[in-house]
Amino acid sequence: MDTGMNGMAPWDLQGWSGSHLERVEQALSRWVGVDAPAGLGDAMRYAVLDGGKRLRPLLVLAARAAVAPADGAGQAAGYDEAALRAACAVELIHAYSLVHDDMPCMDNDVLRRGKPTVHVQFGQAQALLAGDALQALAFELLTPEGAGVPEPVQARLCRLLAHAAGAAGMAGGQAIDLASVGVALDEDRLRQMHRLKTGALLQGSVMMGAACGGADAVALAGLSKYGAAVGLAFQVVDDILDVTQDSATLGKTAGKDAAQDKPTYVSLLGLERAQAHARELLAEAHAALAASSLSDTRALAALADMVVSRSH
Ligand code: IPE
Ligand code: IPE
Ligand code: MG
Ligand code: MG
Ligand code: MG
Repeated sequence: MDTGMNGMAPWDLQGWSGSHLERVEQALSRWVGVDAPAGLGDAMRYAVLDGGKRLRPLLVLAARAAVAPADGAGQAAGYDEAALRAACAVELIHAYSLVHDDMPCMDNDVLRRGKPTVHVQFGQAQALLAGDALQALAFELLTPEGAGVPEPVQARLCRLLAHAAGAAGMAGGQAIDLASVGVALDEDRLRQMHRLKTGALLQGSVMMGAACGGADAVALAGLSKYGAAVGLAFQVVDDILDVTQDSATLGKTAGKDAAQDKPTYVSLLGLERAQAHARELLAEAHAALAASSLSDTRALAALADMVVSRSH
């Protein structure tokens, strides 16, 4: 029987994900865009609901499952609530980043998650505002009154998400991306761009999940390394899929990177070496889990495998 790279029995990722994803979808549907005025709510809901792999929420929940329960049985419900809110918040930041990434001033894309992009459907001004509002909502979700989430946990989740989304993370990486059109980046600079624009939010998802439980310093260091490796692998694979898949499979326009002269792992290394690099990063992710001293990392391990083997 195939035991995968970590030597453990195969893990039923779909079974594990199913119930978690249902809670996330229901919560997003309850929280996003309700009562927003002048059509803004429609644009927000269109951007977030009915689509997406929800990888970042799953990383939050898998990391949370891997760390020990937080001290104090009475607080368990509060930590559950914190993890669900963190899973939704990181997906809102991701959805906002996609809305803005697709706009004509950035990648100028018309297809996302198999549907017309938000600015095509609702106009550029509404797309800009939907992104703004989704970002604000993410932090509102992390700071509920009366939901039992301890305030130090709220603060830590906000700090992690803000760092991952801002100039030291996604937004900074997107700035490098725009400044690099037509530029042949060397591998160090390309890695830095990918770590920021995409890796930071995935690593942040893992660390947010860890903040919803009791993780010691060794576990946190292992999870941070795992998140960095998976985060970079994710964008390497995104670069690969842009050349190997068609638009129907991706739900977004294939072949955009070369058409727009973006530096990618495929343009730098060629397809085969880019694929080999993704596999190296996967091995790094598994090694980090093995060194983390965490006892149940099956969901995290399976998500890493999925990131590298996915077709869309
Ligand atoms: C696409 O992310 C944008 C990148 C960061 C490469 P995903 O591939 O996770 O997109 P969805 O959420 O599944 O649509
Ligand atoms: C997007 O990178 C990273 C984001 C922060 C949204 P890409 O521009 O390659 O993502 P896709 O291919 O459009 O999904
Ligand atoms: Mg882009
Ligand atoms: Mg893009
Ligand atoms: Mg891409």
